[in-house]
Amino acid sequence: MTVPSLAPYPALRLRRLRQAPWIRDLVRESVLTPADFIWSMVVHEGEGEVPVGSMPGVSRLSVTGCAEAARQARALGIPAIAVFPHIDGAKKDAGGRLAFDPDNVVARAVKAMKDAAPEVGIMCDVALDPFTDHGHDGVIEGGRILNDATIERLVEQGLMQAAAGADILAPSDMMDGRIGALRAALEGAGHQDVMIMSYAAKYASAFYGPYREAIGSGKLGSGPIENPGDKKTYQMDAANTEEALREVALDIAEGADMVMVKPGMPYLDIVRRVVEAFHMPTFAFQVSGEYAMIMAAAQNGWLDEERSILESLTAFKRAGSAGIITYFAPRAAKLLGA
Ligand code: PBG
Repeated sequence: MTVPSLAPYPALRLRRLRQAPWIRDLVRESVLTPADFIWSMVVHEGEGEVPVGSMPGVSRLSVTGCAEAARQARALGIPAIAVFPHIDGAKKDAGGRLAFDPDNVVARAVKAMKDAAPEVGIMCDVALDPFTDHGHDGVIEGGRILNDATIERLVEQGLMQAAAGADILAPSDMMDGRIGALRAALEGAGHQDVMIMSYAAKYASAFYGPYREAIGSGKLGSGPIENPGDKKTYQMDAANTEEALREVALDIAEGADMVMVKPGMPYLDIVRRVVEAFHMPTFAFQVSGEYAMIMAAAQNGWLDEERSILESLTAFKRAGSAGIITYFAPRAAKLLGA
């Protein structure tokens, strides 16, 4: 890029274009609308709403509540919902078997939402962690997460979700090769229209903390595994960029239709690099910890809540995101006048 030679002050005054709302509207470079949101939602197996303590304003919804929320999404102009399950601890096991049970709460929520509002896209997380008693995303043997054995289960889980009516499958596990295996299985089962959004560049992040409470996966740290307290043997090192580009390249080659960077705001540089390198629809996940930070500061009176929500979401658009997976979706849509 060549830097244009600047006319000197006073001919050039950048503040001229900021003097009134109408001119600011006219020259604005990125625009946030409810159509940019994928509403991140937690479903539980019981009745009613259960507030998530570390995420003020977010509740686990029942299957019926999810159906109602899908109608609400349609009314607000939110195109899609990403659903995450809270599972009763007694139903979990080391292999996460409930993940591919066709009657599990994810399958029931997907069906209920597609019945209630078929125009709203439904995205499912392909991952074992809500269903494993140790909270990790894979099958463990000899103190290690087994890559290929985990993929077999993820494929089974993804096929079950597709059969339930999911429109987008979003593998969030970070095993090597899972996108290709899932794509092949979907084609083989006649689900050629089911889309894949890969959590392509997913970092081993502290910002997922409140999510563990939301889905009831507890604190990592138990389980027969080396370094059980973190997911660093499969999720990425926060220090790496070039590796993120390799991850994204692989997932595209294996058949991802869309890619995702996660977490969101601390990784906007990665979003920008991915967009510029691959020209793919690139999404960012504003994760539970990002939500919690804004809400906690707002509740202390340290941040203006509404402005912070909209500014944080606008930053994703500025960075080049096609859209944002966010717990703020319904709130932000209303703030935007939906
Ligand atoms: C599970 C998964 C996680 C999130 C989405 N899917 C947690 C993790 O990888 O440990 C985090 C979502 C959030 O923090 O909002 N594979």
